[in-house]
Amino acid sequence: MENIKQRLWTAGQNLLTNRASKTRNGILLFGPPGCGKTYFAQALAGQLDLPLISITSGDLASRWINESTENLVQVFREAAAQAPCVLFFDEFESVAEHRARHSSSGEGIQMVNTLLAEIVKLRRHRVILIAATNYMDRLDPAVIREGRFDFKIEVPPPDFNARRAILEDAIVQHMGLGYIEGDTITLAAQRWEGFSVKRLQAVAEQIPEVRQGIKFATIDYPMLCRALRLVQGHKGKLPEQTKSISELVFAPPFTERLQGILYRLREVEQLQGKGGTAPTGILFSGPPGTGKTEAARALAKDSSWAFLATTGQDLLVNPCHIDELVSEAMELRPAIIFIDEADDVLLWREASSYASVTNKLLTVMDGAKGRPPDLVFIAATNYPERLDPAALRGGRFTEKLQFHLPSQETLARYIDRWCQSSVATFDPVLLPETLASILKGQSIANVAAILQEAINIRISRRAGRDLTPVNRSDVMQAMNTIVGASQSHRVAGTRFRHACHAG
Ligand SMILES: Nc1ncnc2c1ncn2[C@@H]1O[C@H](COP(=O)(O)OP(=O)(O)OP(=O)(O)O)[C@@H](O)[C@H]1O
Ligand SMILES: [Mg+2]
Repeated sequence: MENIKQRLWTAGQNLLTNRASKTRNGILLFGPPGCGKTYFAQALAGQLDLPLISITSGDLASRWINESTENLVQVFREAAAQAPCVLFFDEFESVAEHRARHSSSGEGIQMVNTLLAEIVKLRRHRVILIAATNYMDRLDPAVIREGRFDFKIEVPPPDFNARRAILEDAIVQHMGLGYIEGDTITLAAQRWEGFSVKRLQAVAEQIPEVRQGIKFATIDYPMLCRALRLVQGHKGKLPEQTKSISELVFAPPFTERLQGILYRLREVEQLQGKGGTAPTGILFSGPPGTGKTEAARALAKDSSWAFLATTGQDLLVNPCHIDELVSEAMELRPAIIFIDEADDVLLWREASSYASVTNKLLTVMDGAKGRPPDLVFIAATNYPERLDPAALRGGRFTEKLQFHLPSQETLARYIDRWCQSSVATFDPVLLPETLASILKGQSIANVAAILQEAINIRISRRAGRDLTPVNRSDVMQAMNTIVGASQSHRVAGTRFRHACHAG
């Protein structure tokens, strides 16, 4: 940040004092949104004690053909008349968009041509021309070449020290001094690499709301994370009915493993203090309907991490989607990127015609500058044996959870819960254990579908009359319908899941 201010100051001085030589011209600020380009332009004008003429695309727009171009000329005239001053174009791409992107006769081309001429003319005056853009690659090369913009200054997202200072300033501004616990700000600044100034300030702004109703609460890292969730809004949020891990029924050691992963997501900062790490990639494998997708969602719900989901097929159809997902996840961090049916995209590359997409995914997972913190990939598959070993090696899908068909005991627990949550009644002889022994070997998804089907069968049998409890024969018929259907799907080579998700 200091470095940018210094470069801007030097450039500004140079432009003001070296007018006679007429060798150098404008300053172009570029970088991602929300990182302070406008702020830097204002600060320079303030520091040099010069008036600032600030222009956005809206200021130039006109309903009338050619009038926008005339407005542009007028702006340059005004700046020359006010010299010395700073003339600042925000969202510069809307005025200086590459001419190849405009239709051949459009006013856009005329605007760019006018801009080219006006910038050169401006050299005669003591006007510091500054332009800011988030999209350097959209600008017309002639506009930004030397002689028009000689100082190109990147305004990247704030670095660690800047993040710390911005957070501290913003929190103090909203909450006053004395509330912040220990190394909270350092911790957040360490984890929030890539966050814009705007986002950091927005988090601080949310703290009063998060603290509401909590007496004497000091501001700690979990509180900052809750504030961050408010800033993220609905993006990456799961539907309200998403289940928690405690609502899913697994064998106790398996639930414990899931809880262990959850702990490492939730208590990431404590973990680091103890030398541990958060997971980076987790592979969920197992037969259809055993809860892989549901468990991934439950982890996101219980940890309050954002959840972005895609499928292997989706990534094959649109390989750029992975870049979009990752940049969205970077903004939403902490975030889980969930790739369902991942065998499509993580297939052993020697046997795959999509090796380039697999490469891309693996490269993205590794991260251009190393793994970004607080970003976890979870992939789910029915066919772990088909996956490329490179995907499973350390640093990628390192942790593996094998989901199994439920044991009879697990099934009985699930059935007990399921029946309790249903308004229908079952024959008293059909205890959860009895039903579990009838339905042995089925996935949970299948069991839910069979029980629901049994109730539907009972209702149809009693059409219009009082409902009697579901009996064994309803269950057997339902099993025949559901399992029979699924098996015929298997024979046809279609995924079982399409048949069983109905429940
Ligand atoms: N252990 C479980 N506890 C509670 N519900 C479960 C469990 N396993 C599966 N279910 C229920 O079964 C249905 C299917 O589960 P899910 O979609 O997670 O299966 P999956 O393993 O991802 O299957 P597929 O491999 O076909 O994608 C969901 O409605 C889910 O709620
Ligand atoms: Mg699934």
